[in-house]
Amino acid sequence: MRQILVTGGAGFIGSNFVHHLLQHTDASVIVLDKLTYAASRAALEEVPADRVRLVVGDVAEEAVVQGLVAGLTGPDDAVVHFAAESHNDNSLRDPSPFVTTNIVGTFVLLEAVRRHDVRLHHISTDEVYGDLELDDPAKFTESTAYRPSSPYSATKAGADHLVRAWQRSFGVRATISNCSNNYGPWQHVEKFIPRQITNVLRGDRPKVYGAGANVRDWIHTGDHSSAVLAILEHGTIGATYLIGADGERSNLEVVRAILRLRDRSEDEIDFVTDRAGHDLRYAIDATRLRTELGWEPAYPDFDAGLADTVRWYAEHEGWWGPAKDGVESAYAARGQ
Ligand code: NAD
Ligand code: DAU
Repeated sequence: MRQILVTGGAGFIGSNFVHHLLQHTDASVIVLDKLTYAASRAALEEVPADRVRLVVGDVAEEAVVQGLVAGLTGPDDAVVHFAAESHNDNSLRDPSPFVTTNIVGTFVLLEAVRRHDVRLHHISTDEVYGDLELDDPAKFTESTAYRPSSPYSATKAGADHLVRAWQRSFGVRATISNCSNNYGPWQHVEKFIPRQITNVLRGDRPKVYGAGANVRDWIHTGDHSSAVLAILEHGTIGATYLIGADGERSNLEVVRAILRLRDRSEDEIDFVTDRAGHDLRYAIDATRLRTELGWEPAYPDFDAGLADTVRWYAEHEGWWGPAKDGVESAYAARGQ
């Protein structure tokens, strides 16, 4: 049976991808995850034990990674690499685990797939391209120059460069995707949309950095997963694909939509200390993905997807509740 090793498969997007693989392929899945604060075992609770094996371990540890990759001996076996430290605000507080997991972890994985000649798909972010002006008609494309702003995005950029070098110099069979901001179920409450939804659900006010003018290009996590599978199955080795679903919204527009969905006044917003080095706008041109691979989003309507997500958080307080107070007191200590 075909085997796919999914690093970071207990995280927000990785766990969605595991479910997507189970639904759309007959592969068996090995999840390698360190189970950091960001992981959620609950997101994998309902997967069949005969198709998914969870290995708790660190992607930066050579022995565990070499051992798992050595077992991928089938012609269509592959690694899909999601594992990362993923939150910009945390990278401003302590960049160290970002360097270890995002750069060293990718290096260790590359050496393993090189040694065992295994296909790799590397998950990256649009943040490697820096930011755009609000009124710039341009969007990011596969040929936009790298210009990362934060320690997080710099480590993701470093990882991308390693993947390209290993592909070109050693012939590693790799593809890369750079996706825009994901939303959907199982996203940690430290991130923007879950933080604001859960604030509103608890009767608190959303906390918006600066004036809320920053723009993000939102995509449902299910659409990220379907794009990654399309690239894994049909992408050109050595190519990079940008993933996005034309979901540009300012942060203020997003919080106002959340407040409306819960029948609250659109003015009940706290404007808090801005993020250092805060990227202004991200926007993705996904033409290559759409034309070359025929990919289309299943959730093209952001407002409908946001309404579903608000409902999901309302029904899953038992999951996010235990993390909420700790996250809020850490933000409050920084004036956010
Ligand atoms: P997440 O923080 O929710 O999950 C990360 C997962 O990686 C967790 O399960 C964690 O336990 C695991 N992990 C962390 N360090 C590890 C290590 N050293 N070894 C093994 N496992 C480790 O992140 P996410 O939002 O699901 O993002 C997943 C990937 O997608 C990341 O590579 C991120 O850069 C990328 N990405 C995220 C977004 C987004 O909007 N969230 C957008 C584009 C790309
Ligand atoms: O673009 C892809 C990236 O999107 C991924 O690579 C990252 O892993 C992911 O975390 C996300 O990064 P952002 O920094 O854009 O996402 P975040 O949810 O942290 O913030 C989204 C926007 O909302 C950003 O402009 C900062 C702002 N913000 C965030 C928080 C947590 C607020 O205004 N208030 C908040 O409380």
